[in-house]
Amino acid sequence: MFGKKGFGKKATTGAVPASAGAARAEEKDSVPSAAGATTSAAPNDVQQPSAAHRARDEDYYDIKSEIFNALIDAIDLTQLTQLDAESAREEIRDIVNDIIAIKDVAMSIAEQEELLEDICNDILGYGPLEPLLARDDIADIMVNGAERTFIEVNGKIEEAPIRFRDNTQLLNICQRIVSQVGRRVDEASPICDARLPDGSRVNVIAPPLAIDGPALTIRKFKKDRLKLDDLVNFGSITPEGAEILKIIGRVRCNVLISGGTGSGKTTLLNCLTGYIDNDERIITCEDAAELQLQQPHVVRLETRPPNLEGEGEITMRDLVKNCLRMRPDRIIVGEVRGPEAFDLLQAMNTGHDGSMGTLHANSPREAISRLESMITMGGFQLPTKTIREMIVGSVDVIVQASRLRDGSRKITHITEVVGMEGEVVITQDLFVYEVQGEDANGKVIGRHRATGITKPHFWDRARYYGEEVRLAEALERAADNAGDLL
Ligand SMILES: Nc1ncnc2c1ncn2[C@@H]1O[C@H](COP(=O)(O)OP(=O)(O)OP(=O)(O)O)[C@@H](O)[C@H]1O
Ligand SMILES: [Mg+2]
Repeated sequence: MFGKKGFGKKATTGAVPASAGAARAEEKDSVPSAAGATTSAAPNDVQQPSAAHRARDEDYYDIKSEIFNALIDAIDLTQLTQLDAESAREEIRDIVNDIIAIKDVAMSIAEQEELLEDICNDILGYGPLEPLLARDDIADIMVNGAERTFIEVNGKIEEAPIRFRDNTQLLNICQRIVSQVGRRVDEASPICDARLPDGSRVNVIAPPLAIDGPALTIRKFKKDRLKLDDLVNFGSITPEGAEILKIIGRVRCNVLISGGTGSGKTTLLNCLTGYIDNDERIITCEDAAELQLQQPHVVRLETRPPNLEGEGEITMRDLVKNCLRMRPDRIIVGEVRGPEAFDLLQAMNTGHDGSMGTLHANSPREAISRLESMITMGGFQLPTKTIREMIVGSVDVIVQASRLRDGSRKITHITEVVGMEGEVVITQDLFVYEVQGEDANGKVIGRHRATGITKPHFWDRARYYGEEVRLAEALERAADNAGDLL
């Protein structure tokens, strides 16, 4: 498509030189637009790469640039932003059709439609990102400068056949995204977290920090929230393992979810919160609100970066400390990264049992040492033994999530923190995933295995909540089914 033949420019009178045109278009491109309103108008049912996702050749970008520039000259952008999404699209459609006719560009109706869609996305929405945002099968979108974009589909990372006109267009789109949550990204403040109107989490890091152009990372919001039963269907955990997790969530164990980046920590945390009783007061603290709690009594808090003068920052620690004055039953920390670890452990220790958080670590043991170093580096002058005692006294269970080589995500450990021997923290695994190899297609073969513990450390807690029979049965079934390969 859009090959030289089908896309021959018969008449180029009035064409603006590419570079000058692009610069001018960018100026206008940065006019505030009805982006928020129109993003939701993007087609939501596009599941598979459509024609719009196919790679385009240089001719396409040249002709698009030419038509785009002519359009920018012809259209009143300020008026356009007053219109609703549909009318704005119609307006653009009329003018683009006229331009195509005047310039006598040879292209099929399908090609015209595609070009029109692209131009509408540029002016009204998030430009080349739109078709990717409309797809539900994408987990992450990673833009590494104007030329290269990668996406994660089914656990695998692949290059997406889109590109931006140049880094200025990309930065303008980043700016458009972050300005919707009242933030800005530029040379003076080149790092920014934000959220799309649909809840997707966004991070932007711009030049000069990002050397090859702005890097934009989007964790796509999943419309259909994954539930523990979905994770069972995906083979991430066995039904018995899921049952044990449900009980852990319900009986107010203090839980840390550990895992590498993108391993499914937040998803798992979301799932676990589903088993919290409706009458509990829950306070969530996050950098960018991602959790979707279903309970009626939830207060959601979000951190705030400093403003341009370097003032006004509200850290995770500020939020967690403030939580304690808000009479929470449970505190949920989206991601524990720094000194807030100390406050969360204290909260867990002082009557806010059932609190939860995630952290980056590759095993439950590593999660414990990460906690320890977060506290040490936070400037708390405590002896190692005291910190470890605090961890043991606070954390009941560590659930480990992993993204395996083949892109599949597994819950690899449900581990209890049981006590101290001398200065060493003692843990016991209830449930583990063992990798046994991989098949001819590179798919990892392994199995979930119960370790044979019949009376976990949180047994009394389960009994207190009337869940001990359910727990005993789940553990028994888990031991019986230990051989299933997944
Ligand atoms: N068990 C699973 N099976 C398949 N997909 C999953 C599973 N768990 C999570 N996902 C998907 O993987 C992506 C990453 O999940 P999630 O946001 O929970 O990861 P994370 O560990 O919190 O990442 P980060 O470290 O970036 O915060 C999401 O798109 C999510 O829908
Ligand atoms: Mg996360």
